[in-house]
Amino acid sequence: MAPFSERDIRRPERLETHDETGDFPVVVKSGNRLVETMMAHHPFDVVGWDGYYYPWAMSIHDFEPRVGRIHLPPPVHQTFEGPGFVLCSFVPRLFDYHPQAIPAPYNHSNVDSDEVLYYARGQFMSRKGIGVGSVTLHPRGIPHGPHPGTYEGSIGKRATEELAVMMETGKYVH
Ligand SMILES: [Fe+2]
Repeated sequence: MAPFSERDIRRPERLETHDETGDFPVVVKSGNRLVETMMAHHPFDVVGWDGYYYPWAMSIHDFEPRVGRIHLPPPVHQTFEGPGFVLCSFVPRLFDYHPQAIPAPYNHSNVDSDEVLYYARGQFMSRKGIGVGSVTLHPRGIPHGPHPGTYEGSIGKRATEELAVMMETGKYVH
């Protein structure tokens, strides 16, 4: 059911070595405690890479959207989940395909999570005054939804080219 494949996750391919010497403070945070250690060389002065602890990346363009006959709820856009948050990807996709479907999402209120959206590309059907680079915040408990007129405007639309990222805060139990 995952909307992307493990093959889409990119691992580091190149080792960038820094062999400078001098005073390099390294601050380690463990829980609520910070510990500083002074090193005589850059901490990235390494010659190899091994193990399973490394940074990784996945492109939003590799996220494969799901589409339904009628409107599917936001969890179908979920990409990652961490302690206290989820990330969702809104990517170019076909809209709901029932002949009487209304593609614009319904009004809703998140009982216990804040919602932050970053609009990266395209036209955003349900919102007026939103452009590329806009950020919106919908605090928990506050009802929100498509702006007036956007429901009607969405009827008959076949697809969207929008690209947006959403973060929802909260405690999730699955
Ligand atoms: Fe929302």
